[in-house]
Amino acid sequence: MIFDLSKDAKLNENYKLMAQTILPRPIAWVVTEDNGVINIAPFSYFIGLSSEPATVLISVGHKSDGTPKDTLSNIRKTKKCTICMVEEKDLKKMHFSSKELEKDISEAKLFDIETKRLLPSYPPMIEGVPAAYFCELNQEIDLGDSKTIPLVLSVKEIFVDDRNIIDKKRLTIFFKPVARIGKSYAFLGDDIEAPKIV
Ligand SMILES: Cc1cc2nc3c(=O)[nH]c(=O)nc-3n(C[C@H](O)[C@H](O)[C@H](O)COP(=O)(O)O)c2cc1C
Repeated sequence: MIFDLSKDAKLNENYKLMAQTILPRPIAWVVTEDNGVINIAPFSYFIGLSSEPATVLISVGHKSDGTPKDTLSNIRKTKKCTICMVEEKDLKKMHFSSKELEKDISEAKLFDIETKRLLPSYPPMIEGVPAAYFCELNQEIDLGDSKTIPLVLSVKEIFVDDRNIIDKKRLTIFFKPVARIGKSYAFLGDDIEAPKIV
């Protein structure tokens, strides 16, 4: 079956097609701030764009009332966000933090998600995550009249918990991430060594 997106493109169908074929998707658990309110939400339209300069992208949409999601409006205002990586133990809290809330209600408070401020000029990271990226807004990508806004983020500092650095000399990092598969989740399976190219 061929889906011609120019013809019968309904946002929902595009989402269904893409979310179930781009697999697995990593999850950015994004912390932002506005007026002392800590906002936390997960985003799986998330990808690394470049290591040099260190750059990632998240795509953030709008709420059901048409206003920008809090993450989008906070990043537009403060130009900063902290992206946390999600482990199995945090799956429930991460998922709960996707609930649409009024802007002045903090997911951190409502869902009892502990945060800690590692760097004073960035939003806090979520306590106990294996790694966090401290980012500044580089640019928004204009997709025409799209309601989803891709945000290019420059990564300024990366935190990796010492317990997840299994070989300091080689800088080998290990943790068990949660991935998004369609509308559900998956843990990664066996680690398969890359075949040697001769
Ligand atoms: C695992 C997961 C991934 C998500 N990925 C995205 C995404 O890439 N873009 C998006 O706009 N919303 C995504 N959402 C929905 C947002 O998390 C949700 O709309 C949230 O309420 C936004 O919160 P905010 O208004 O505090 O920014 C995702 C939800 C879940 C559970």
